[in-house]
Amino acid sequence: MLLRTLGTAAGGGLPQWNCACPGCAGARRHPSRRRLHDSLAFHGPDAWFLANASPDIAEQLESHPSLRPAAGNGRTPVVRVVLTDAELDHTLGLLRLREAARIEIWCTEPVHKALTARLPLTDILSPYTTLVWHDLPLAGTGHPAEIAGLTVSAVPLSDKRPRYAADEATHPAWSSALKVCDPQAGTSALYAPAIAAWSERLDEAVAGCDCALIDGTFLDEDEPRRTGISQRTASEMGHLPIEGPLGTASRLRHTGAQILYTHLNNTNLLGDPGARGHDRLAALGLRVAEDRMVVTL
Ligand code: MLT
Ligand code: MN
Ligand code: ZN
Repeated sequence: MLLRTLGTAAGGGLPQWNCACPGCAGARRHPSRRRLHDSLAFHGPDAWFLANASPDIAEQLESHPSLRPAAGNGRTPVVRVVLTDAELDHTLGLLRLREAARIEIWCTEPVHKALTARLPLTDILSPYTTLVWHDLPLAGTGHPAEIAGLTVSAVPLSDKRPRYAADEATHPAWSSALKVCDPQAGTSALYAPAIAAWSERLDEAVAGCDCALIDGTFLDEDEPRRTGISQRTASEMGHLPIEGPLGTASRLRHTGAQILYTHLNNTNLLGDPGARGHDRLAALGLRVAEDRMVVTL
């Protein structure tokens, strides 16, 4: 399989339209620091599918020649999207895909409920296109979904609900990691852009994969409070920080998998390629993902 990073920023992107913090100002001064909203494309033997549909999706598809409609083939008829959660930064792109004849969506049960009852996507989009909803099986239970010649399942991570559905009932699979396997090559990848808490299940999933794209929203626990974007800490916002006692870096240093941090918030100092945090990560064998990376597995 081939994995393509279409974007690597958290909600708002980098720069964020209404923000002049050092990270956003730096990205305006240095266009190479700009990051689109995090999303991946997976290419299997048959076709490709998206992991999350970001608000940047149309530009992301257009800027990658292999994701454009083939010359002479008219329009891309079907688009396939697998969702990690129901967050706006991962789902608003579904509205932008309405020119497709059909959108096939795989997600867990609470995510489906949020996207049909709270954010009524089926009602809104049905005059434009056909939405086909598929259950995304939980890893280790039954058969994974088969998409584009790859298999996909959800590793439940937490009951972190989107703010617009904060009053919904708890469920362990509100936020999940996607486990994508290539049965022919015997390889696998993990995509976990929102890790609210570490679990043994996640530990095993990372240990068993070749490449993992991991929540890198915040570098340290106090970052959201220190920068004034929230009264809550990183983990209270549903994102374990990279460094510090709660940090994911110390857990990920010896996994053997290629680890790439993604979903960077505009407050994260790692948005600056000269930041010293990059050296600290490199010493642990870890690194930050960039937009437009291609990983072959
Ligand atoms: C998150 O990653 O925590 C959310 O996307 C935040 C948001 O709703 O903006
Ligand atoms: Mn987000
Ligand atoms: Zn900013």
